[in-house]
Amino acid sequence: GLGRLADIKDIIGSICQVLGRSGDLAGKHIVVTAGGTQEPIDPVRYLSNRSSGKMGYALAEAARDRGAKVTLVTAPTSLPEPVGVDVIQVGTAQEMRQAVENVTLRSDALIMAAAVADYRPLKAAKDKIKKGKTGLTLELECTPDILGTVKGNFIKVGFAAESSNLVENAREKLKQKGLALIVANDITAGDSGFGTDTNRVTIIDREGKIESLPLMSKRKVADRLLDKVVGLSEETIVYCSLREEPRIGFSKGQEPLFSKRKGTLILETAIGNITVSYNPKYDEFGPRGVSKWLKWLKKNHPELKAGDKVRLQ
Ligand code: C5P
Repeated sequence: GLGRLADIKDIIGSICQVLGRSGDLAGKHIVVTAGGTQEPIDPVRYLSNRSSGKMGYALAEAARDRGAKVTLVTAPTSLPEPVGVDVIQVGTAQEMRQAVENVTLRSDALIMAAAVADYRPLKAAKDKIKKGKTGLTLELECTPDILGTVKGNFIKVGFAAESSNLVENAREKLKQKGLALIVANDITAGDSGFGTDTNRVTIIDREGKIESLPLMSKRKVADRLLDKVVGLSEETIVYCSLREEPRIGFSKGQEPLFSKRKGTLILETAIGNITVSYNPKYDEFGPRGVSKWLKWLKKNHPELKAGDKVRLQ
């Protein structure tokens, strides 16, 4: 009731969040998914998997503690909701897809740690299926591939739980799903993967670089992965929209990405690529410089419409 001391875990979580406000993910919106989806067979039974959600929850907390606004889209788990994180509870793969599509509209990164069921019953029975004398055959269909089909201008990170050919299989998934990074874990090891507090993972990037991390807590794995996400967001992709008159702006939280950029920038626009050289007059491509520069762009390229995306590289 009122006046009762908050849970210690929540107090620590809130402190970490406050201390991390100016961390390296400040101003970023990170979407994390967690848990194993549940695909109903009838009103009381479902198909699911052994995911505990621990990796995803650790990621959500780590991103929060580095200053990010975090949305955690979670299938059912037995874990408490982390404080300072927007939590969206979902059940099925279809619900997870809907939630992910909604919340990634304005996000900087999507990290899919959820174990999404690959199959679901073609039809969930309306009433509880009665026990019969013979066996029961369920017809299954594929669930939507959320990570492989979600669209948007954010960094996509996937997980690959593998029991053989770890690196090759993970690499294939990275390519297939158009990911920036994939985290492969060997689920045959007892101290790693499903349900444990520790994980031993290999992180693979788009260039094929492989980093095999030793066994460590899921929280440490989360931070090592976020280090890479930070690196990626610094080196690439900022999206700006030419808004309705009279202002030209860019999404909140993206400003820090503009600083300390020199040399030539390439604008990938709705009308093709436009190359712009660094202008010493603006000193740096800080928010003010970029804003002036987008005005220049609009004046010189009137064919760009309000709402068109402009990408700085
Ligand atoms: O293809 P596979 O299921 O091994 O890929 C794993 C990655 O893809 C994970 O990041 C998982 O969250 C995501 N995934 C998905 N939708 C599915 C299946 C997996 O987003 N239907």
